[in-house]
Amino acid sequence: MTRDRIVVLTGNAHPALARSIGEALGIELCKATVGRFPDGEIDVKIYDDLRGCDVFIVQPTSPPVNDHLVELLLLLDTCRRASAGRMTAVIPYYGYARKDRKDEGRVPISAKLIANMICTAGAARVLTIDLHAAQIQGFFDIPVDHLYAKPVLIDYFQSLGPRDPVIVAPDMGGLKRARAYAESLGAQVAIVDKRRISADKVDWEHIIGDVEGKDALIIDDMIATGGSMVQAVRIVREHGARSVYVGATHAVFCGDAVHKLAHCGADGIVVTDTVPVHEPLPERFQSRSVAALLARAISAIHRSESVSALFEKA
Ligand code: R5P
Repeated sequence: MTRDRIVVLTGNAHPALARSIGEALGIELCKATVGRFPDGEIDVKIYDDLRGCDVFIVQPTSPPVNDHLVELLLLLDTCRRASAGRMTAVIPYYGYARKDRKDEGRVPISAKLIANMICTAGAARVLTIDLHAAQIQGFFDIPVDHLYAKPVLIDYFQSLGPRDPVIVAPDMGGLKRARAYAESLGAQVAIVDKRRISADKVDWEHIIGDVEGKDALIIDDMIATGGSMVQAVRIVREHGARSVYVGATHAVFCGDAVHKLAHCGADGIVVTDTVPVHEPLPERFQSRSVAALLARAISAIHRSESVSALFEKA
């Protein structure tokens, strides 16, 4: 099977990112419409010939996650039925990832079900960034290239010129990521010790590690409601940090998250564009693009070159 032409295709989740990836690769986006029938069902039509092509479908499963997920599944199905050579699902933000295990009775493992659906729809590979838990890669029985946004975000932190930096993980799950940033910045690590006291009560009052008098950089995989990050900023401030900066890969920003973050006392906030942000960001916010990172990975996948060799680990 020849796969001598890269095709980049997108649904409605993040056309701006798909366009930037196309520009970085020097190609135009595949002509397609992804609309709605009067009853709300999704209507897909691709106008370009895909026979034998190496198709990359750029579609974060960001809110509204169910719409964007079904668009992705239907785009995969359309490509398969149009005899595309290979389809790679480029999912910069993988939604439903936080439900990755059965931690109580009678709940689904959503991240696994979604992986099954993507494989069943015809994806031959997945390209993604900063999965909530790295082991979600194993939910797919196809190759998964898992990139890290660290090279994109670390520039911001380095530009701050912190004198005595400490990287703070907002919970235990973020420790590995915090360590990776700390190694690159020659910083120490601290962890906000988030303890669940009961079903609806969380105790945020402790920090493992020393932040007093230091320049704290709190790093997380995602910000959704902003609740976790706002609490992390508060506790780090209360423990005497000299400055507090915040970084996250996925700016999911639901509800009034932007407003909360703008008033949480952080000196600066940096996110990436794995997810589109549909409101103007206040002055202290910065967004860095992952388009070049994804374009390099797409190029490497197309040429059957190593992807892991290209990128730093987190
Ligand atoms: C939790 O494990 C995640 O890494 C994030 O800290 C969390 O999902 C962020 O959610 P929110 O912004 O709603 O607190």
